[in-house]
Amino acid sequence: MPDTPSRIRVALLGCGQIADAHLQEIRKIDFAELVAVCDVHQDLADQAAARFEVPHAFTDMQRMLSATSPDVVHVTTPAHTHCSLATQLLESGVHVYVEKPFTVDVPEAERVLLVVKKTGKSLCLGHDQLFDPIWLRCRKLVDDGVIGEVSHVESVLGYPLSGQFGRQVTGDPNHWVRQLPGGLFQNTISHPLYRITEFLTDIQPRVDAHWYASGNATFPTEMVAHLRGKTVTGSLFFSTRIQHQRISRVYGPRGGLEVDHDGQTIRFIRQSTLPGAFGKLEIPWRHWREGARNLRQNLWRFLKSDIHYFAGMRTLFELYYRSILDGTPPPIAYEEMLRVTRLMDVMFRHCRVRTGAKRLAALSSASPRMADWKANCMAEVEEEESVS
Ligand SMILES: NC(=O)c1ccc[n+]([C@@H]2O[C@H](COP(=O)([O-])OP(=O)(O)OC[C@H]3O[C@@H](n4cnc5c(N)ncnc54)[C@H](O)[C@@H]3O)[C@@H](O)[C@H]2O)c1
Repeated sequence: MPDTPSRIRVALLGCGQIADAHLQEIRKIDFAELVAVCDVHQDLADQAAARFEVPHAFTDMQRMLSATSPDVVHVTTPAHTHCSLATQLLESGVHVYVEKPFTVDVPEAERVLLVVKKTGKSLCLGHDQLFDPIWLRCRKLVDDGVIGEVSHVESVLGYPLSGQFGRQVTGDPNHWVRQLPGGLFQNTISHPLYRITEFLTDIQPRVDAHWYASGNATFPTEMVAHLRGKTVTGSLFFSTRIQHQRISRVYGPRGGLEVDHDGQTIRFIRQSTLPGAFGKLEIPWRHWREGARNLRQNLWRFLKSDIHYFAGMRTLFELYYRSILDGTPPPIAYEEMLRVTRLMDVMFRHCRVRTGAKRLAALSSASPRMADWKANCMAEVEEEESVS
């Protein structure tokens, strides 16, 4: 029987914005070896290879595969390319790590998972924030029963468009993000959404979602969504009008936990136990003690050089590579990849239907024929809404 390999050969496809984080985190894994990078633009591939000391740079994926024989390829290309690239890679005999969002819709996701089954290769999706140290701590507190059974999860993502990527998306109507069926949200809401679905486990929760364009924007930039499962509800708030922030609040009957992913802090949300005005002292006192505890923990991690924005990514890579070497299932379940993709499809459809309904309602119904037509359309919209 051949020996099980103890090292893993890794290549990366797509040397854009997020590629640096991947290359940086892969390099920290002692049993991973970066063998190649590839981008359709030669200069981007060359620059990434030079920055991260990767021995080979390519512009053609198949040439990269035959020249360097990686075990796993990270797909860090735009979302609309994920399905086609992932299936080609799996069919070429390599394992695949694909960035979120998995694909642009459910039919594509099903196609990729069919190829996973057919080839026997494995695939991991970039739900990396589930492995962020602060989220793992929150998960542990919930599992220990600190807040009781989870009843509601709130997820906030502040995404100002004033940064470099945001400016590219805003300034170019043909930018790939603007062409996605869910536009800006398709590229961004996976993270806040899977933090909700971790606790809201219904296969098909009811969804109510709404998007709109803020200020002078010519495409939808704000989104509010509510998800209703059997025992858990979730709310997602995405805004380009607030500062960058990633906040989650997980609630149960005994209180809540507020997780600040950027500050790497957890705050307990609990009612005061003291009567009247004393409560107004108890709560800030508690915040003060929590602040001191969070500061102590972060200071300790800082001194150990253990505070990194993409720490969750490294943990997920490591778990995935181990699963490949051990022949065990990947850390993110295939059903979860499909469920999150399905929920995104439903949310976007819901948003589109609502936008359409608003425009329809604003139309004149001057003639009886026009009024009839409008009533029929509204009935169809209502039917569509009740399906989701
Ligand atoms: N996990 C995270 O926190 C995180 C953060 C940002 C982006 N992402 C995701 O990563 C993916 C890429 O986003 P980005 O912002 O880096 O995009 P980007 O546009 O900055 O980079 C994409 C790169 O892929 C290259 N490319 C496109 N098609 C290719 C092909 N067929 N073969 C080789 N290279 C190809 C492009 O030339 C470009 O350099 C998206 O799915 C995005 O949602 C994840």
